[in-house]
Amino acid sequence: MHFTARAHTNIALLKYWGKVDTEIITPTTTSISLTLDEFYTDTTVWFDEKLNADQFVLDNETVTGHAMQKVSRFLDIVRQQAGIQTYASVISTNHVPTAAGLASSASAFAALAGAASKAAGLDLTLTELSRLARHGSGSATRSIFGGFAQWTPGNDLTSVGSPLVSDVDWPIQLMTVVINDQPKKVGSRAGMQHAMETSPFYDLWVNTANQQVNAMIKAIQNHDLNTIGQIAESNALQMHATNTTAVPPFNYLTDKSWEVILIAQQLRQQGIPVYATMDAGPNVKLISNPCDTETIKNALLSVVSEDKIINAHPGPEIKISAGDI
Ligand code: PMV
Repeated sequence: MHFTARAHTNIALLKYWGKVDTEIITPTTTSISLTLDEFYTDTTVWFDEKLNADQFVLDNETVTGHAMQKVSRFLDIVRQQAGIQTYASVISTNHVPTAAGLASSASAFAALAGAASKAAGLDLTLTELSRLARHGSGSATRSIFGGFAQWTPGNDLTSVGSPLVSDVDWPIQLMTVVINDQPKKVGSRAGMQHAMETSPFYDLWVNTANQQVNAMIKAIQNHDLNTIGQIAESNALQMHATNTTAVPPFNYLTDKSWEVILIAQQLRQQGIPVYATMDAGPNVKLISNPCDTETIKNALLSVVSEDKIINAHPGPEIKISAGDI
């Protein structure tokens, strides 16, 4: 039978940046994210006795090589859990505004976990899906859930995502400022490993990040945009500091990224709550209140054109249904 899953991408407010176990992907710190409505992946999977290899079509193009191997290895885990040997067909569509540069492994592996497990005859809970998605990509553990979600360190069984607040009913948004939409030079997997192995700041990162968890949860519960933003921005800058202090150093942020970060800091001096967070690339995501959208956009126009600013709001948990997209 064909099953289709829609999973939304998420942006970490407290980042995952380093693994305790690289095989099963368990993190050194607790991460907390916001799932977004605008960006998602739709994936259809069916297992077919007639196939003699897995097939993967992404955005209407057949995928081969390393990306295909990653999907096949992930399907092996599903087959093992379901006790089947049949190959599968996977058809995925990424719904990310053109040039957003946000094509994300989080929504991709969350949607694949949802559709493939159902198509293989498994009926997993959201926690079990989160555990499965983790084997594809760490950030995917959180994309199973809507709203604010967290992912904690632990062993294969306990290191799973969980919802903090699924339905976010107060004003918060994430504006993505696209600096560059090209694939990154240093992927997150290699980047976090190198920072962990060589940066003298890495242990400090782990300690500080873990100390930020309770304060972040409290701020989310209190709908306290300023505190959420303050902690998120400092967490992101600390994560990037482990990269710039790695040996040899590397850096995802460009001059333009910093111009945007400085604009956010200047707007705050004018009393507007807007805070920056950056992942394994130069794009900057601004945490803000929807009522300030126009003011923030106007300030950003000195650095980027309007089509490079993409607004997103809290999004829903994974949805799985029988049939094609
Ligand atoms: O899940 P990965 O391997 O794509 O790593 C994600 C790393 C960050 O996006 C930088 C942080 C995070 O927690 O999403």
